Amino acid sequence: MRLIGEGGNALAIYPSIGCSKKTRINKYDYVTKLYKSTETAEEEYKIYSKLPEELNNKLYYNFCELCKIDSNIHSYVDKIVEDYDIKKINYNSLLNIKYIHGVTLYDYLKQFMTIKKFIHLLELMVIFHKDIIKMNELNFYHKDIFSQNVMINFKVDKLFLIDFGRSKYSKKKENIDINNFNKMLEDILDCGKKNNKIKYVIRSVKKIYSKIDIHFLKILLNNLI
Ligand SMILES: Nc1ncnc2c1ncn2[C@@H]1O[C@H](COP(=O)(O)OP(=O)(O)OP(=O)(O)O)[C@@H](O)[C@H]1O
Ligand SMILES: [Mg+2]
Repeated sequence: MRLIGEGGNALAIYPSIGCSKKTRINKYDYVTKLYKSTETAEEEYKIYSKLPEELNNKLYYNFCELCKIDSNIHSYVDKIVEDYDIKKINYNSLLNIKYIHGVTLYDYLKQFMTIKKFIHLLELMVIFHKDIIKMNELNFYHKDIFSQNVMINFKVDKLFLIDFGRSKYSKKKENIDINNFNKMLEDILDCGKKNNKIKYVIRSVKKIYSKIDIHFLKILLNNLI
């Protein structure tokens, strides 16, 4: 069992704690998010259940299981909290979500970046952009897209979204996700600039395109391949 993240509202651990006694340990296909507040867990759960079905497996895995931390699970959760020396907090509810076999984009960008890896990442970003547009067309907005909430799934070689705590269904068109996508693209380019050859190509493309967006990304990709 390992701790994989500690946010403002929740704690993420892997493998998951099943809701029923039978599935309590070693569920390697799921991640457990422990919540201090039942309301927050329920809100995120509601969002998962409303996500557009047709984006399932494309942008996220539409699986989520919610349960209260009752006396049956309590001692189990307490042991994890103790083992990790985490501030003793009463966790009330948990969400089990499908495990994405990979790392966050944030962690990936900290690794050594080769030209080949960089080009492949840009290709994944083009597909990711298309998926986000599709999600927004279906009136869904994630609202918290940044490198720590995007994961590279090595098993299926795709970028996936996690952390839907702030997501909203809205019929009013919003630019927030695409703006955040563009910001994330800048972080990726900054990482590529550590390599002199990539830095040179970025600089020459920048001469034509002042704004870094999907058009810039496509031109850059053509120049790098
Ligand atoms: N489905 C998943 N598969 C694999 N790892 C995950 C998954 N969901 C979350 N993680 C890991 O757990 C970390 C924390 O999860 P997440 O971003 O959902 O919550 P948070 O930001 O810690 O909490 P909060 O809900 O308070 O914002 C992620 O950065 C990622 O490393
Ligand atoms: Mg997060």
